[in-house]
Amino acid sequence: MKIGFIGCGVISGAHLEGLKKLKDENKLTFQLTAVCDLKLERAEAFAVEVKRQLGLRPVVYTEYHQMLEQGGLDAVSVLLDHDLHHTVTEDCFSAGIHVQMQKPLAISPSFGRKMLADAKKFNKVLTLSEPSVLGAGNVAMARAVKAGLIGDVYMIMDYATITLGRSFFAGTAWRHMKGRAGAGWINDHGVHRTHFFTEVNGPIQEVFSYTRIFEKELNNGETTIHPTGEDTSVTVFRFENGGLGHWMCSTAAHGEKTDGVWIYGSKGCLRPGQHVTLEDKSIVTHSEIIQRYAPEVVENPFAHSYIELWEAIAEQKQPISSAERGLDALGVVFAALESGHTGQPVSVQDIIRGEKHAYEDTVLAEMKTARF
Ligand SMILES: NC(=O)c1ccc[n+]([C@@H]2O[C@H](COP(=O)([O-])OP(=O)(O)OC[C@H]3O[C@@H](n4cnc5c(N)ncnc54)[C@H](O)[C@@H]3O)[C@@H](O)[C@H]2O)c1
Repeated sequence: MKIGFIGCGVISGAHLEGLKKLKDENKLTFQLTAVCDLKLERAEAFAVEVKRQLGLRPVVYTEYHQMLEQGGLDAVSVLLDHDLHHTVTEDCFSAGIHVQMQKPLAISPSFGRKMLADAKKFNKVLTLSEPSVLGAGNVAMARAVKAGLIGDVYMIMDYATITLGRSFFAGTAWRHMKGRAGAGWINDHGVHRTHFFTEVNGPIQEVFSYTRIFEKELNNGETTIHPTGEDTSVTVFRFENGGLGHWMCSTAAHGEKTDGVWIYGSKGCLRPGQHVTLEDKSIVTHSEIIQRYAPEVVENPFAHSYIELWEAIAEQKQPISSAERGLDALGVVFAALESGHTGQPVSVQDIIRGEKHAYEDTVLAEMKTARF
């Protein structure tokens, strides 16, 4: 099958690497025959890199509608700012093309619901490339917890703070504006974590959060912006199965960052990507967890996302990283944002169903004015 990329920015290189891994391992994979970016020089440079790594130079476009009309594509991977996800998806579907979307599924839950409805309406596949639940390591950890390696999950703790020095995350200003990104880092990075939490331990029922914008001005040496997306959130939540969580995201840390997830169960503790420590102090290493629980899964999460897309199209197989699960992860993030906005605990289902949307309304209002 033929695939095209829309957007050749920060994350496109990781996707190319994923396709290269599949090619190197002689796995059935897509041919990347078309790439598109508004910035011609970016798309041209990426096409050169594709030729170097995959051996075939894709056709370059700067207008994605043209690519959809002329490219003869089976599928597209959408690698764009969050506010474009839903419109580009609908355009792909109406051109008869399946879609792999990047996280977050959409800028906000109402658009996520629309994308799921559009996939049904046009009878097309919509998968999500969410690396936190794909690849052998992540699949193995989720299977290990579900199989009871650490017992019943009592609590998940996640402290993710980074030091930006008042510049832009990933060099991109749009990530700090809620009308482009849906919030600040709590959406951009936070969905990775909420998707992982819910993959490991099932749905989150209720969330309470404090959110702030500490840094009122960011500057990358050329451009100054005044962020509208939250740079910090401190959240507690409760899973439907009774487990508890404490989750923090911040791009406003100075001096030192924190980075760590701990998953405590009735029999031990999982440090994702590192090891499990059981109550008798014995250690199960990350590679042992992979060997035991996901030996058959490809290692690279982005490579895995293309296997999932292929199997969803060719075999109607349900992906691990489905659009539905992406909406659940986005629902937890927006429950935290709603809680920070209203000062009340928020039910995740109220957000997913669209019954509570005071914070989302502020995103929609900014979307009408925010393109820069
Ligand atoms: N680990 C991950 O899974 C991961 C990491 C980074 C980004 N992402 C996601 O990938 C997506 C893209 O992020 P990024 O960091 O690559 O952003 P980016 O800003 O670096 O790249 C986006 C690209 O899209 C281009 N573009 C914008 N509008 C366009 C249009 N209408 N037509 C064609 N091209 C257009 C821009 O010129 C830019 O080159 C986002 O959804 C982001 O959340 C995922």
